[in-house]
Amino acid sequence: MISFDEQTQVFHLRNDRFSYVFEVARGRYLLHRYWGRPLHAFRGSAELPALDRAFSPQPEDYENERTFSLDVLPQELSMQGHGDFRIPSLGVVLPDGTDVIDLFYDGYRILRGKPGLQGLPALYAQEDEAETLEVTLRDPRGRLKVVLSYTVFAGDGVLTRSVRIENTGEAPLRLKQAASFCVDFPDHAFDRLSLYGGHAAERSLERCRLLRGIEETASARGASSHQQSPFLALARPETGELAGEVYAFSLIYSGSFSMKTEVEQFGTTRVVAGLNPADFSWQLQPGEVFQTPEVVCVYAADGLNGMSQAFHAAYCKHLLRGKYRHAVRPILVNNWEATYFDFDDEKMDALAACAADLGLELLVLDDGWFGHRNDDNTSLGDWTVNRKKLKGGIEGVAASAHRRGLKFGLWFEPEMVSKDSDLYRAHPDWVLRAPDAPMSFGRHQLVLDLSRPEVQDYIVACVSKILETGVVDYVKWDFNRHLTEAFSAGRTPERQGETKHRYVLGLYAVLERITQAFPDVLFESCSGGGGRFDAAMLYYMPQTWTSDDTDAVCRQAIQTGTSYVFPPLTMGAHVSVVPNHQVGRVTPMQTRAFTAMMGCYGYELDITQLSEEEKQEVRAQVALYKRLRPTLQLGTFTRLLTPFDGTKNETAWMFTSEDAREVAVFYFKTLAEPATPIRRLRLAGLDPDARYTFREYYPAQTLSHDSLGMARQSLAGKTFYGDELMQEGINVEKIDADFTAYLWVLEKEA
Ligand code: DGJ
Repeated sequence: MISFDEQTQVFHLRNDRFSYVFEVARGRYLLHRYWGRPLHAFRGSAELPALDRAFSPQPEDYENERTFSLDVLPQELSMQGHGDFRIPSLGVVLPDGTDVIDLFYDGYRILRGKPGLQGLPALYAQEDEAETLEVTLRDPRGRLKVVLSYTVFAGDGVLTRSVRIENTGEAPLRLKQAASFCVDFPDHAFDRLSLYGGHAAERSLERCRLLRGIEETASARGASSHQQSPFLALARPETGELAGEVYAFSLIYSGSFSMKTEVEQFGTTRVVAGLNPADFSWQLQPGEVFQTPEVVCVYAADGLNGMSQAFHAAYCKHLLRGKYRHAVRPILVNNWEATYFDFDDEKMDALAACAADLGLELLVLDDGWFGHRNDDNTSLGDWTVNRKKLKGGIEGVAASAHRRGLKFGLWFEPEMVSKDSDLYRAHPDWVLRAPDAPMSFGRHQLVLDLSRPEVQDYIVACVSKILETGVVDYVKWDFNRHLTEAFSAGRTPERQGETKHRYVLGLYAVLERITQAFPDVLFESCSGGGGRFDAAMLYYMPQTWTSDDTDAVCRQAIQTGTSYVFPPLTMGAHVSVVPNHQVGRVTPMQTRAFTAMMGCYGYELDITQLSEEEKQEVRAQVALYKRLRPTLQLGTFTRLLTPFDGTKNETAWMFTSEDAREVAVFYFKTLAEPATPIRRLRLAGLDPDARYTFREYYPAQTLSHDSLGMARQSLAGKTFYGDELMQEGINVEKIDADFTAYLWVLEKEA
């Protein structure tokens, strides 16, 4: 998979999905040469331009060679100072205050498998699944060593890269930038894709023509954020969901990040991705090493679905860990939208009884069970049960669930503290704050300083104490504000710029300790919904609450947006009450259910208040979901229609089981239209030579009426070859209501 040609000094990283090539030029410089479809061999048919470019400087050793300038050469690691004026990926300040440092190629090694990253989550692989290339660069004056790590996975369309920076000198250095990845493309004929949003409106797809100059997708919130996601893609303008070239980047990091593109004067494009340099600085003492987060890079020749499927496969195989890595997830009922803070033993017991009756599998007790938290003003940090609400304690609620054959889950928000809490009164210095400056509050709460070991220990002890009772099967780990005044009491002034990154490292240390100590617990991360839906959190917790918006129409967009990077198996998705609590919309129960069936399914409403007819419908949904769950959660996901293009009025998703035998197709239409066009839905990814039979069909609102609705469908029981279903497609029957949802289930002949 990885080779180095001594003669041409070319590194060629290749599998059956892509080739990635760079060379050592003049024995010193790492120049990027190719990334795209796999090549037999790289011989340099397109030579690097050797032109005398005005205002592009020469390094001193090449003063008389005016066609040689770092400003125009494609770099694997960009630095300012010697004449590359484009975005740098590494910035090092020397003790004399200058930031000009040479880094020359020094050697390489190729390893089987993939070493872990110190203190950071990363993709993992067995020895026979991947190869890793480590290329070393050194400062000729012995002050700095930099190692670029690239991993190629057999059969997976992803390439990872990270950077290790070591102070090999005798004086401290300051890192002002330490990006994980840098690449230069020879042209700029791209659309730029990113995921933007806000609280309860996460991950909408933005697709615009890549502009000249610098564009940035970033967070400076100390979290990967609702607002922008650590994802960027460059797609050819003609690239669609099912065809065309795309390059994409997903950062395994939960804090402030930056993903920049620069189209420079000669029309080439640079991408730099990693930690946000505007929110970072780091003192590197002699002998110390700094490890950057990892970027997962995809080249796909088969459209945006090809890109997403490469991310999904890699994240399922090489990122998720533990007992639930490749296991179906329980159907839950969560009491948050059912009761908010207003619950007690009796209410929880009633929910448990009803959940068991409906066939649900997990009862989750959300916020409000500890301290005297009857609203969001108080008690974060005091993780002792409120006996006024729960006379039998956590054990009592858990027993009520377990007795009925349900698992039991509990909410925590361990990184936070309320001003009104015993913890804050005892340790006011444990919060992030600037000395002699007012503090900013978010939801009345402050952020604990997770960069401090004693705070990490406190969190581990509090959560462990409850999990050690053995009655908690699931944890929802919430995080409901972003970092302000990110300074740490006791840290020296020159190290204060490290606090946000040290916070994230502290969080990872805490999560590693807790998740390893309780391997049977299913963890779901959350941040006011999907404010920290990133690959790093998924390394510790294999699912994330996708959004605080539970409206079906909004969720179709949020989940579709999330699917550009993350597989359905990682997305928490629940059926909630109507009128919806976030947007007031009234949608049919079936539409809410079919929308939520895309992810880790559950109910988040007061199920005890459902009418008998509605309960019947829920039982039917639950039974259907249990039947389809392996296909929906563990199969291959394909977007057929997205709410981001076309009429913005339709969404269609397709799931194919791991053995390719079962196919489920969901279609949603937001608003009904007069003179309605007939929607022809073309399926994708089928075997053109295989025969598929329509086994089940659920037209709009079927589950609330008769049983399977097959009678209304002319396709029922009919068999077609895959090629016809993909080329000719099927018709969606006429729609005469808003917010409708359809489902077809097909079976492939053995
Ligand atoms: C935000 C989460 O996203 C909600 O689901 C809920 O857990 C609340 N926090 C509780 O405060």
